[in-house]
Amino acid sequence: MEKEIKTVFSGVQPSGNLTIGNYLGAIKNFSRFSEDYRTFYSVVDMHAITVRQVPAELRKRTYETLALYMACGLDEKKNTLFVQSHVPEHAELGWVLNCYTMFGELSRMTQFKDKSAKHAQNINAGLFTYPTLMAADILLYGTDVVPVGIDQKQHLELARDIAIRFNQTYSETFTVPEGYIHTDTMKIMSLAEPTAKMSKSDTNPNAVVYILDSKDDILRKFKRAVTDSDSSVHFSEDKPGVSNLMTIYSAFTGKSLDDIEREFDGRGYGDFKLAVGEACADGLATVRDEFARLMADKAYLEQVMKNGAESAHRVAFKMMSKVKRKIGFVN
Ligand code: TYM
Repeated sequence: MEKEIKTVFSGVQPSGNLTIGNYLGAIKNFSRFSEDYRTFYSVVDMHAITVRQVPAELRKRTYETLALYMACGLDEKKNTLFVQSHVPEHAELGWVLNCYTMFGELSRMTQFKDKSAKHAQNINAGLFTYPTLMAADILLYGTDVVPVGIDQKQHLELARDIAIRFNQTYSETFTVPEGYIHTDTMKIMSLAEPTAKMSKSDTNPNAVVYILDSKDDILRKFKRAVTDSDSSVHFSEDKPGVSNLMTIYSAFTGKSLDDIEREFDGRGYGDFKLAVGEACADGLATVRDEFARLMADKAYLEQVMKNGAESAHRVAFKMMSKVKRKIGFVN
């Protein structure tokens, strides 16, 4: 039977300051679904501990990530906003799904390979089974659509495979989710090394523009952004730096790539970088103001977390009961 209202789930790790990659690739797209879908957006703190976190910072970033969701336009009355660890079914289903996920499948995950190279002293089992927890997040809510950046595509495909495998072993239980990957902004690149993804864990602060950076910082970072020895503002594979800046400019202004090429024809990179910086800083100004307002009222954020956890739990509990029945756990 066709479900009437479709469900959307996505999550962001509170593992660092959020970047314009997180914003343009994911969070900005979340609000597209608020009106016509049942939406769940989680601050996935359990994912964050696969890499060592300083406890006080993790706690602070959990509040901040929730406040950023709201500051980026997610109305807490229209979206279920919650913290992953407040809904214990995530861990519970995560364990169950570990038993339906193959060692070989997890070994092929490129993010696991990258992260284990980066954290060679701490290749913990959680880092390895991270994608099954992500599958649990998604499958718990009967999710139809998952808005994410391209770096999550492989994890999402694994979630689909796990859902199909479970459904075939028992009977129809999980909805097989589809990704929503916004092609224009699915991979915002580092400003210092434009062939690598912009990442919140980058140690070079000039490579990354954070959503909460001041206007001065934003202008400075774009001014320094790596481009090339040419001077034409033109989108192409062999001009990754300029193309990345064009993507960012287009996302903040709504202008097409052709219009941007025309706008900066014969004007050189200096003018262009300044315009990108201005557009980005202006586009984020209201987010910054709203974030400051929300962070000043911690009690309200806690109320939002509590309400969100209650609504999420109601749905997650039902799915978990169904899963337990299917696999033969005694009620
Ligand atoms: P995370 O916290 O690394 O990133 C959050 C979202 O931001 C997107 N993103 C980007 N998009 C474009 N360009 C970039 N440079 C860029 N950097 C990050 C990510 O693709 C992501 O959509 N495993 C997830 C969190 C997660 C999740 C889930 C997502 C846990 N459970 C269930 C969806 C559904 C992660 O680490 O995202």
